[in-house]
Amino acid sequence: MKRARWGNRMVFVLAAVGSAAGLGNAWRFPYVCASNGGGAFLIPYFIALITAGIPVLIVEFLLGHKYQKGAPSSLGNFGKASEVVGWFAVFISFIIVTYYTVIMAWVFDYLWYSLKIAWAGDSSGFFFNKLLQVTEGPWTIGGFRLPVIIGLMLAWIAIYFTVKDSVHSIGKIIKWVVGLPIILLVVLAISGMTLDGAVEGINYYLSPDFSKLKDFSVWTAAFTQIFFSLSVGFAVMIAYSSYLDKESDITNNAFITAFANSGISFLAGFAIFSTLGYMAQATGSTLAEISTQGVGLAFVVYPEAISLLPFGAVGQVIFALLFFIALLTLGIDSAFSLVEGTSTAIADKFGTNKKKTTVWVIIVGAVISLLYATRAGLYWLDIVDRYVNNFGILVVSFIEVAIIARIIKPKKVIEYINSVSDIKVGKWFEILLGYISPIILGIVLIMTIKNEISDVINKTAYFADYPTSSLVVGGWVMLGVVLLVSILFARKKVINKTENE
Ligand code: PFF
Repeated sequence: MKRARWGNRMVFVLAAVGSAAGLGNAWRFPYVCASNGGGAFLIPYFIALITAGIPVLIVEFLLGHKYQKGAPSSLGNFGKASEVVGWFAVFISFIIVTYYTVIMAWVFDYLWYSLKIAWAGDSSGFFFNKLLQVTEGPWTIGGFRLPVIIGLMLAWIAIYFTVKDSVHSIGKIIKWVVGLPIILLVVLAISGMTLDGAVEGINYYLSPDFSKLKDFSVWTAAFTQIFFSLSVGFAVMIAYSSYLDKESDITNNAFITAFANSGISFLAGFAIFSTLGYMAQATGSTLAEISTQGVGLAFVVYPEAISLLPFGAVGQVIFALLFFIALLTLGIDSAFSLVEGTSTAIADKFGTNKKKTTVWVIIVGAVISLLYATRAGLYWLDIVDRYVNNFGILVVSFIEVAIIARIIKPKKVIEYINSVSDIKVGKWFEILLGYISPIILGIVLIMTIKNEISDVINKTAYFADYPTSSLVVGGWVMLGVVLLVSILFARKKVINKTENE
C-alpha cells in the first residue's frame, strides 16, 4: 500500500506548529522568560533557537522526508545503536502523552467548573484538595479521582478521532486547533492589557536584566525551553515529515514552524502577565510572589486572577472559558502528535496495520495514564515530567546531531535539503551542523546532568521534598526501562516486512 500523504504543504506546517505550540508555550515560556532575565532572556532564547532548535528541526524533517519512515526506522539506517535512539525517542514521546492527557483531563474539568467559577475564593484549595485530593506523598496512592477519569476519557476519545486515519483525519481538524488558540490568546492579551496593573505585569515579563546572562542556568533554561517547545528530540517531527512527498520543502517549513511557535509563546506571555499584573495590583502583592509556571499557573494562579476580574460574573465565565479552550486547543494537537509519532514508528518497523496500531497505542496509553488519575498522580506527573524532559530530549537531539556531523556529513545534508527547499543554505549551515550544534548540545547536556546530580546530592532543588525512592523509581528506573525496551525493540528482527498505510 502507498504511504499516506498530508493533504498539502499548509496542513503539514500547521500540524508541525500544532505539535510545537502546546502547554509549554502558554504556561512555561512566560515564566521562564520573566524569571531568567525578562527581555534579556530573548538573547539566549534566540541563540538556542538558531544554533540548536532550528538545525535539529531541519535534521528531523530531513530524516523523515528522506527515509519516509518513523524515527526508529529512519535512524536505523545508521546502525542498530541509532535505531535504539529512535525507539528511545518514541517511548519518551509515549510516556509524555500518558501524562499530557491527564493535564488535558484537568482542562476538560475546568471547562465545566468555569461555568460557575467554582474555584472562586480558594483556587489553590479547589485544585489540590477538592479536584485532585492530593495525598501526603507519592507513595500514598489513594484512590482514583472520578472527575479526572472522566476528563481523561474525553481527552483520549478526542485523540482517537483526530488520529484514527493518521494524516488524513489530522488534516481535517488541524486548522481549527491551531487557529483557535491564537485567536483566543490575542483576545485574552488585548482584554488583559486594558486592566489596571497590566503594564507592571508586562514590565515584569519583559524588562531586561542583562546581568542574568552571566548565569549559566539561564542558558540551559533557554535550550530546554526551545527543545520541549519545538517538539524536537522526540519521535514526532520525524514521523510527521515522513508523510511528506519527496519533492516537499524542508528548510522553509522548519523556519515557519520555529518562528510561529516562538510567536505563540511570546503572545501567551502578554495574555498571562497582563492579567497577573492586574491580580498583583488588586491583591496588593508583588508579581514575584504570584507568578509561577506549569500546573500552578494554569490551575491556580491564573484562575484566581480570573475570579478577581472586574468584568462581572458573566464576563468572568467568558474569560475563563476562553482561557481553558485556548489551553485545550493548544494542548490537544501536541498530545495527538505524540500518539502519531509512536504509532508511525511501530507500524513502520513491524509492518503492522496502522489503524490498529494506533488503537493499541491509545488503549495502552489510556491505561497507563490512569496512574496519574490517582490522588498521588500529581506527584508522579511532576517527577516523570522532570526526568523525561531534562534528559530525554537533550540526549536524543545530541545524538541526532552527532549522527549528522559524523555519519551523514553536513555537506551531504545540505546538498539534499537544498535540492528540495525554497531557502537554500550555505557554508554557514555546514559549520553550524558540523561543529556548533553538536558542541553546544554536548555542553548543555553535560551541564544538565551535572546540575541534576548536585541537586539530588545536596537536596537543593524544589523536588527535594520527594522521597529519594520516588525520584529513583519515577526518574532513573523509568529512564532505564525506556532504554531497555528501546534496545529490545531495535533488536527485534522483522520477517516479512510489509508496506502499510
Ligand atoms: N511542544 C509541546 C509543548 O510545548 O507543550 C509539547 C510536546 C509535544 C513535546 C510533542 C514533545 C512532542 F513531541
